[in-house]
Amino acid sequence: MRNFTFYSPTFFAFGKDTEKDAGKYVRRFGGTKVLIHYGGGSVVRSGLLDRVKASLEEEGLPYVVLGGVKPNPRSGLVYEGIDLCRKEGVDFVLAVGGGSTIDSSKAIAAGTVYDGDFWDFYSGKLITEALPVGTILTIAAAGSEGSPDSVITNENGMFKRGATGDAIRPKFSILNPALTQTLPPYQTACGVTDIMAHLYERYLTNTRDVEVTDRLIEALLLTMIHEGPRVIENPDDYEARANIMWAGMMAHNNSCGVGRTQDWNSHNIEHELSAEYDCAHGAGLAVTMPAVFTYVMEHDVMRFAKAAVRVWGCQMDFDHPEKTAKAGIEAFRSFLISLGMPKNFAELGAREEDIPNLVRALCYGNGRKGSISGFVTLNEEDCAKIYKMMV
Ligand code: NZQ
Ligand code: ZN
Repeated sequence: MRNFTFYSPTFFAFGKDTEKDAGKYVRRFGGTKVLIHYGGGSVVRSGLLDRVKASLEEEGLPYVVLGGVKPNPRSGLVYEGIDLCRKEGVDFVLAVGGGSTIDSSKAIAAGTVYDGDFWDFYSGKLITEALPVGTILTIAAAGSEGSPDSVITNENGMFKRGATGDAIRPKFSILNPALTQTLPPYQTACGVTDIMAHLYERYLTNTRDVEVTDRLIEALLLTMIHEGPRVIENPDDYEARANIMWAGMMAHNNSCGVGRTQDWNSHNIEHELSAEYDCAHGAGLAVTMPAVFTYVMEHDVMRFAKAAVRVWGCQMDFDHPEKTAKAGIEAFRSFLISLGMPKNFAELGAREEDIPNLVRALCYGNGRKGSISGFVTLNEEDCAKIYKMMV
């Protein structure tokens, strides 16, 4: 195991009706004037926004409201949010929604106290200072409620990039599984896929003897295999929703990723798809992961075989471990399809003729020099082959 530090200071309130304490938590973490940030309207329709406002009013906390965050959140609204926070003297950003709303909130929080262009953080500058952020999560997926990360799409070119820093870890996150019961099945499945991706991106490691994190990841993957189909069959299954919601947080606050190298090639390859075609991140991952895994399998066949046996219940073939490894990848692919996820470029709305552009953006965007690195290093030719495998 490698040396590591682990810092995860977020306060979590989990369970039914926990959102009614939002005002108390804002006060506890130092807020005196709040920006409530939300998405395209699901929180208006569900009545959640009104409940959150009432909770702030009960605590005597003034607030301003900015809605309109789109999935794959855009830079334009971030600039608007920063202006609003400065003009109104906001000192706390409260995200009410999914990963996109939380990420937009984090960007606003960092940009408000920064003299330069907030995009500097999405071009590699570490975020060391930000307004405090709190979240009320409405979809189990991105894990942004416990992560130090934010992903924003720059409208000037439509490319998607991430920023990071402990300063944007949420001060508190309210996780009420009942709030996710209004999600359409497709969005629920996208969330399940993203959570499993966060686990696989950590499972694919080049570090030896990391049994504790291997076992944690396997347990969470098994949980998703058990709970995913239950929640697709019955969207009102509170217990299944609760297990998925906590798994989503555990999958991405890095408790499963410490002390080991990680992959993230699938995320990088997918981010070009959701930036270009505006598809859901989870749907893009469902098409990307089986292709990437098949392509890189030979780098460490036994790692894939181990997941196949321990997670997917495959029989180990000691004479032909590559057959076991492949069976595990196929079981994963079938599972995602059974949840209603797309299986190829066409179902995602992507086009084969765009592959050269996707590869260029992937391998040269964000200061990259012709390749991406993770479990293995992939050059332009590798990435083009992987995109072709998805067609
Ligand atoms: O905008 P509204 O109207 O709220 O509708 C949303 C949106 O259309 C809807 N939704 C959310 N909760 C709902 C609901 N509809 C009904 N009932 C509810 N309870 O779901 C749609 C998707 O929302 P979004 O916030 O985009 O989903 P998600 O949480 O999957 O976030 C995706 C974004 O997170 C980024 C992705 O790249 C993508 O931009 N990621 C962020 C990470 C991080 N910050 O650590 C890591 C991830 O790997 C990921 O890259
Ligand atoms: Zn993700």
